[in-house]
Amino acid sequence: MRARSSKVKKMAKQLTQFVCSECGNISPKWLGRCPACGKFNTFSEEPTATPDTGKTAHRPAPAKAIPLAAVTSERYERTGTGVSEFDNVLGGGIVAGSLILLGGDPGIGKSTILTQIAAHLSTAHKVLYLSAEESCSQVKMRAERLGLKCGNLLILNETCIDGLENELDGVEFCVIDSIQAVYTDALSSSSGSVGQVRECASKLMRIAKSRNITFFIIGHVTKEGALAGPKVLEHIMDTVLYFEGETQENFRILRAVKNRFGNVSEVGVFEMTESGIIAVTDYTGIFLSERRGEEAGSAVTPALTGARCMNVEIQTLTAKTAFGLPRRMSLGIDYNKLALLIAVLEKRCGIALGGFDVYVNVMGGIKLNEPACDLAVCAALASSSLGVPVDKYTAVFGEVGLTGEVRAVSSCEKRVAECVKMGFKRVLLPAKNMKSAVKYADKINIVPVLYVNTMIKTLFKGQTE
Ligand SMILES: Nc1ncnc2c1ncn2[C@@H]1O[C@H](COP(=O)(O)OP(=O)(O)O)[C@@H](O)[C@H]1O
Ligand SMILES: [Mg+2]
Repeated sequence: MRARSSKVKKMAKQLTQFVCSECGNISPKWLGRCPACGKFNTFSEEPTATPDTGKTAHRPAPAKAIPLAAVTSERYERTGTGVSEFDNVLGGGIVAGSLILLGGDPGIGKSTILTQIAAHLSTAHKVLYLSAEESCSQVKMRAERLGLKCGNLLILNETCIDGLENELDGVEFCVIDSIQAVYTDALSSSSGSVGQVRECASKLMRIAKSRNITFFIIGHVTKEGALAGPKVLEHIMDTVLYFEGETQENFRILRAVKNRFGNVSEVGVFEMTESGIIAVTDYTGIFLSERRGEEAGSAVTPALTGARCMNVEIQTLTAKTAFGLPRRMSLGIDYNKLALLIAVLEKRCGIALGGFDVYVNVMGGIKLNEPACDLAVCAALASSSLGVPVDKYTAVFGEVGLTGEVRAVSSCEKRVAECVKMGFKRVLLPAKNMKSAVKYADKINIVPVLYVNTMIKTLFKGQTE
């Protein structure tokens, strides 16, 4: 009798379960709507906790608490990637045994840069490139196009990662291209689903930590937000990097959003060329157009991306709307922020944009999401609306409030220094920031502004009616 009941128990044993990502409710089968929290489409498949048959066989002895003073501090050995900007973003190089996630839109160049890095590393280390998306010959074609010497680079074309461990003998670095394309047999859901992505990543983490192998993991950012994308993995990773930029433009920004071995304020600037991705070390002026100052509708602002300050041009176009409802389109600036600034210009400065379509574009395809760019957007919009160009040697920065006042921003000194370095002759900045800018007063004409209206009067003096 007893034997029979244990057999029944064994048969009924679930290997996977479905967990609601909102409230953690567990169900033996997939449900469209969680009965506990009422949310739709939140169930994802996960393996059940350790099967009861295994008991605690693989469990190490419980850890003992020790005083922090007794802990020996480790110094991390770092390996260079061969791409200086990439090393900077990592905090000085790769730390052995770490998990590095590289996220970005499809086609941005993730496979390209990691092929370059893998080729560089393979000259002195054993490196494996797991290509789940492309065939071996496609990877070879890319390597040849980029002119890489990578005879020693191991390539594996496989989508199931359960057998990966057998291929990792002596391997120090491994690239997974991409996490959405691989799967594990532990789950029956298809590759790319939240459960698969998470399970594969934790599997890789266990391998990385137990065998001291560094994994570069590629993750696509999906257009519908980051579901099943890099966002669900961030907590497992040691370092999370995002590759940004417009795929049509040549410039790319590499940004760290999490780094256990370095600070996250570093960014890397890259250029996509015929022969691959190259680091841009002299980035001054790459985000400025040549015809600046001749046409109405553009303004330059010293913007902070990470710890770096770069002068970036914001271009705008206002055109009479053909339909009742004016269009607002923005690339690189938050859409809601644009709507707010248009309202401020209308109400506080008498610049009527209600009957005009407004288009905004940030040069070089980079995204500006700091408030210090507000004033430059206003300047560019006013310039376009009035039909008067902003002087070529003038830069503006400051946050704009709903009352039309110009608020102080951080890192003022750095921004003014960048303008001086770039040869600007005049900078309009928040009056409250004046103190930290005065030391440059002999090198550049510093104009404090209290209100957006004052800025417009200063910029277009005598040219508006
Ligand atoms: N044959 C080619 N010649 C020149 N550039 C190419 C070629 N194939 C791809 N590219 C460039 O490489 C980019 C794709 O890079 P890739 O590393 O495959 O992107 P990801 O892995 O991020 O999806 C394309 O946007 C394109 O600009
Ligand atoms: Mg790719």
